[in-house]
Amino acid sequence: MIERKIVYFEKPGEQNTEATLSLAFERAKELGIDHVVLASSYGETAKKALKHLDDKTKLVVVTYHTGFFEEGKNTMSREVEEFLRSKGVTIVRQSHILSGIERSISRKLGGVSRVEAIAEALRSLFGHGLKVCVEITIMAADSGAIPITEVVAIGGRSRGADTAVVIRPAHMNNFFDAQIKEIICIPREKR
Ligand SMILES: Cc1cc2nc3c(=O)[nH]c(=O)nc-3n(C[C@H](O)[C@H](O)[C@H](O)COP(=O)(O)O)c2cc1C
Repeated sequence: MIERKIVYFEKPGEQNTEATLSLAFERAKELGIDHVVLASSYGETAKKALKHLDDKTKLVVVTYHTGFFEEGKNTMSREVEEFLRSKGVTIVRQSHILSGIERSISRKLGGVSRVEAIAEALRSLFGHGLKVCVEITIMAADSGAIPITEVVAIGGRSRGADTAVVIRPAHMNNFFDAQIKEIICIPREKR
């Protein structure tokens, strides 16, 4: 049996970013985990994470797919992306595995797909941040940016970060092989 700390934030959101980053990198170091996967749409949280990096820790930043808000456009600017790369950060930009092409079908024809039901179950029961942790870990694995060994994943509610977990990744075609091993911090109120 092991005992470990879980921090509960009162509410979800960006105000929890600094604490989430500190707790996540601290746990990664404690467990000897060298890959941290972080969601960052515009690069704001990614820039804040840089000060937590040491020689051993690799930061993988997963951002929105091109065209998420506007056809052909990226959320993260080229300057921010180049700056992050210059600091040794890996950027992952690919289709979102917990919506995918199913979102187009639901929007056009109505109904809801099984993939979207998984996403909604994770969001409703555990909060947006935890759903994001799961999604970005699979995306990073499918991009070959992380090994299939325990990593720390960090997500949030729209902007910033409020949830961090230790997770065993999986690929999209073996989704149920993923396992959340530890919750490091999470909002107590999910909405
Ligand atoms: C692939 C991906 C999926 C995301 N899905 C959600 C989501 O379902 N709900 C949500 O509130 N935020 C979602 N986000 C936002 C992130 O959790 C995080 O708060 C944001 O990317 C931080 O961006 P910033 O560093 O520019 O503030 C998603 C981000 C990414 C990259």
